[in-house]
Amino acid sequence: KARIAVFASGSGSNFEALENACREGELDAEIVLVMTDKPASFVVERARLTDIRVVALEPKAFPSKQAYEEALLGILREEDVEWIALAGYMRLIGPTLLAAYPSRIVNIHPSLLPSFTGKDAIGQAIAHGVKVTGVTVHLVDAGMDTGPILAQVAVPVVEGDAEKTAQAIQRIEHVIYKETLQKLILTNGGVHS
Ligand code: GAR
Repeated sequence: KARIAVFASGSGSNFEALENACREGELDAEIVLVMTDKPASFVVERARLTDIRVVALEPKAFPSKQAYEEALLGILREEDVEWIALAGYMRLIGPTLLAAYPSRIVNIHPSLLPSFTGKDAIGQAIAHGVKVTGVTVHLVDAGMDTGPILAQVAVPVVEGDAEKTAQAIQRIEHVIYKETLQKLILTNGGVHS
């Protein structure tokens, strides 16, 4: 089974969907680590309901981004992590982790990239007045929500109802993340170098 670390900064609904998919055998993987940069985030509570190791590391506790990522890398190596799935992790991945996990870091983003990168992509799409937005799963590079696209699904904006639009997007996220990771893992077996 592929060994995945999930990085999250928020509520953790995507973590939970991936965890369910692993338990139900839809995703041939094991989440061996949940890492958050925000110790108070709800993902920590969700993860504590499982027996997955939870690590909360705040970047401000380190002298540099490089030192922060080196500390993360030490933990990833302890757990023999092969893949990193960003699930609402609201930070750029730096050169240290990118070099250690080339084409092995995946992100999910609530828009049809390259539109509406960064924070509150759903709010940005609604404010822009688009009629269709969506979800993208992509490989991570040094940019913000850039990198090769693996999967996209369009989701119509529900006119005048941001809440319904967000719910529709999240429902799609919880399906396409596990499916895309499963395909990726099947076609790229083995451990990272
Ligand atoms: C998800 O919608 C995810 O796509 C988004 O954060 C949310 C986290 O929700 N990620 C980004 O915006 C990345 N730029 P969750 O904590 O419930 O999984």
